[in-house]
Amino acid sequence: MLRGIFRTKNLDDILAVAGGPQFALKRTLGAFNITLLGIGAIIGAGIFATVGTAAAGDASRPGAGPSLMLSFVITAIVCGFTALCYAEFASMVPISGSAYTYSYATLGELVAWIIGWDLIIEYAVGNVAVAISWANYFRTLMDGVGIHIPAWLGTDYRTAAKLAETNPAAYAEQFGSAPHIFGHAIIFNLLAFGIVALITIVLVWGIKESAEFNAGMVMVKIIVLLFFIGMALYYVSPSKMMVNYHPFQPTGWHGTLAAAAVVFFAYIGFDAVSTVAEECKNPARDLPIGIIASLGICTIFYVVVAAVFTGIIPYNELVQKLSNEQAEPLTMALSHVAPQGVTWPSTIVAFGSVVAHTAVLLVFQLGQPRIFFSMARDGLLPSVFASVHPRFKTPHVTTIITGVLVGGFAAFMSIDEMVDLTNIGTLFAFILVCIGIIILRYKDPTRHRPFRVPLGPWIFPMLGAVSCFFLMYYLPPASWWRFVGWLVLGLSIYTSFGYTHSAIGMKIGRPSRAPFPLKLASLGFLSTAIGLFTIPHDAGPRTLLREAMTAGEDHNRALIGLALIAVGLLLGIAGSVMGTSQNMSGADDAS
Ligand code: ALA
Repeated sequence: MLRGIFRTKNLDDILAVAGGPQFALKRTLGAFNITLLGIGAIIGAGIFATVGTAAAGDASRPGAGPSLMLSFVITAIVCGFTALCYAEFASMVPISGSAYTYSYATLGELVAWIIGWDLIIEYAVGNVAVAISWANYFRTLMDGVGIHIPAWLGTDYRTAAKLAETNPAAYAEQFGSAPHIFGHAIIFNLLAFGIVALITIVLVWGIKESAEFNAGMVMVKIIVLLFFIGMALYYVSPSKMMVNYHPFQPTGWHGTLAAAAVVFFAYIGFDAVSTVAEECKNPARDLPIGIIASLGICTIFYVVVAAVFTGIIPYNELVQKLSNEQAEPLTMALSHVAPQGVTWPSTIVAFGSVVAHTAVLLVFQLGQPRIFFSMARDGLLPSVFASVHPRFKTPHVTTIITGVLVGGFAAFMSIDEMVDLTNIGTLFAFILVCIGIIILRYKDPTRHRPFRVPLGPWIFPMLGAVSCFFLMYYLPPASWWRFVGWLVLGLSIYTSFGYTHSAIGMKIGRPSRAPFPLKLASLGFLSTAIGLFTIPHDAGPRTLLREAMTAGEDHNRALIGLALIAVGLLLGIAGSVMGTSQNMSGADDAS
């Protein structure tokens, strides 16, 4: 039924197409610029927003407390293994397209589709989280300069509803002024939507990320983090911080590792550097240096910021504060230690944070349409996705689609859920990249590899894959359900569209319309995906079954969701059986 789904694209063909004179990009970047590009993509919402949840924990995980600095080191090591693999790929296949292109060359079309689909989580869902965090810091900044933006225009409904449950007085204070329709408060994140809309317009208009602009942004990010560290040390002496470091792991290793899985978000972006491979003067040397140096520099900043953050505010107070109010961790921590009425240090941090977030939004909002674009060019998505604006020469269709989706979700989703989903999706992509290195070393051993992962094809790539999985394990069940739902939805689209429209598929004589068994399987994937999105996401499989069997709050969702999954699986099995028997009778007829 499925012909050639593991067919790989020939690396030489990919390199030849990219190397054609019509596609040749100017090679201007050296190791220094690449390192700056890496830092530009890395430092953003992760260090400014996720440290709060990571240190204090929430309903779905324990917090790390002062061991947050250790969590950052652990995650840096995990990313380090993957960075080596990215560096080998990027030096060997120095073309734009990142993990999607690498996997098409090594693991075949189906895996490439899965990775491309999965990268939507890294880029687009990641940006949903960054936009939400941007809105939070922007409100703090505006407050600092005396302009009050109501919380109901800068928060999502569910976060507000959670606050109403845990602290009705704080809810009434922050959201009491929200307008109501039929008794329901109108609460949505207009700010997050607004910044994404603005960036989308700029990107459709056409912006070239210039190295100078990026360097300026990086300077702002570094200065503001240094400022935060300096002010914290000014207000709280290191000896006082030492006192706050006890107990170091208030919730044990589970808290430290759960935080490592959350702060992974802060490191995402070093992989995006590989997309400028075609613009490097000497990609073989400069890319590995740039990827690894940017990771190393950010790690140092992160560990120090984590140490200072958990040093200036005792763990118990942090837990209490974050569960009772909607606050931005770094500015909240500074306000906590500044003398009464002194707000300018928080305002400066909020300003730097807004700049940092905007830079990350730009990088990922620019990257996502280009991945859609590559997939459409390969026939895996409708060709309209590969259209270029006649005047602005930008991929306007995909840029606008990305903007509408990211902005729309940013208005209604809560940041923690989006961070968890981004992390699980990106970790999965990293696992596939690590495995790709091992496979390619065996499949194509003689290819010139200007940079090689040291110590052979197994040690670091295997450590990378296993340690990424290890971090995935520490993410809450909700992110797993959503992630699997997303992948299954992707399979439904691949089997109903990509399989028959793929450029490679056309070459090897696949039918131009999906055969009936494949349609059945595709419907099965769709039903399973809807089921996975319907079930309550905070429960594991056993609790879910119990909820479906017994009357209770989540009974209906659990029952309907599980029924849709069961129907989906049955359709999938029916499709596979029909497809296999058709194949066999085809083979018999042929013989
Ligand atoms: N690493 C990026 C950030 O923290 C995604 O915003």
